[in-house]
Amino acid sequence: MKVLGIETSCDETAVAVVEGETVLANLIASQVDVHERFGGVVPELASRAHVEALTPLIDTALETAGCEFRDLDGVAVTVGPGLVGALLVGMAAAKAIALGTGAPLIGVNHLEGHVLANAVEHGPELTPSVCLIVSGGHTMLVHMPEPHRYELLGQTVDDAAGEAFDKIARFLGLGFPGGPALDRLARDADPNAIRFPRAMADSGNFDFSLSGLKTAVLRHVEAERRAGRDVDPADLAASFQEAIVDVQVAKTIDAARERRVETVLLGGGVVANTRLRERMEKAGAEVGLRVLFPSIDLCTDNGAMIAVAGAWRLSRGERTSLGMGADPSLELG
Ligand code: KG4
Ligand code: ZN
Repeated sequence: MKVLGIETSCDETAVAVVEGETVLANLIASQVDVHERFGGVVPELASRAHVEALTPLIDTALETAGCEFRDLDGVAVTVGPGLVGALLVGMAAAKAIALGTGAPLIGVNHLEGHVLANAVEHGPELTPSVCLIVSGGHTMLVHMPEPHRYELLGQTVDDAAGEAFDKIARFLGLGFPGGPALDRLARDADPNAIRFPRAMADSGNFDFSLSGLKTAVLRHVEAERRAGRDVDPADLAASFQEAIVDVQVAKTIDAARERRVETVLLGGGVVANTRLRERMEKAGAEVGLRVLFPSIDLCTDNGAMIAVAGAWRLSRGERTSLGMGADPSLELG
């Protein structure tokens, strides 16, 4: 089953063609230069950039995959969560292709896409599992007893992890998006240089809080400057990152044990983080859990994850009506 996947929920225009879990084409037109000078994503500019980039990207993806519109067995598109105007660009294109070719349309939850991105490299046996989803807009732990069934275990009560990375990176003058730059800066630095608070580490539930950590970083820098001391930005980045990763690793392992699953799945842009991948792999090995995460390119927003999730749903006989609207605050469930 060949499925076209379209993802336009935020600032990447992404298109892929998959056959089952095999990726035939996976292309991204990044909007980084559009939003860079604003230090964050400007929704109206994102929608316009999607309009410009999408049609040629679909053509190139089909060409790369060696197929034509008439070869498609389905069209998958992100319906939410995300920026409403941006989502609508992808949905309009997907509906037009479905209508024109007669291929069935399937709407995909972006968060399910992040989880099922794991199928590309690890195959379809992903459940029962506990999933840590960490992206620019979400930080959550979910129990997935079987494919497409999600039970929320906990989530952030304030900022998302990616948002915290981006804010601290901006504070350090690392540009936008900040996560990858902060990751690089932290790589050879000391993660124990500064002991930042591990928010909600002992909360007894699976919720997270990240806004206090941000404040702690700013306070630390102010205090050091007042005392006439220099702060090493690399040590600061590594220590901040460690505080986030510590809590995420501990809660994910606890959740997996509580739910008695043997598999942990990681998904979302923050899973591209070197330290999170290292620490999670090590912690999993220590307690005998199978820890899976996608390759870096499939962690951040991409079309392949949407195409794979759509293909799974289509093969169960699911279809989405052409009348379906975007849902900016769609929940996983
Ligand atoms: O999943 P994603 O591509 O888009 C959303 O669905 O939000 O996630 C984007 C987020 C951004 O906040 C970005 O800074 C963060 O993922 N990110 C990282 C890394 N690469 C991307 N955060 C930490 N370390 C990274 N290497
Ligand atoms: Zn995402």
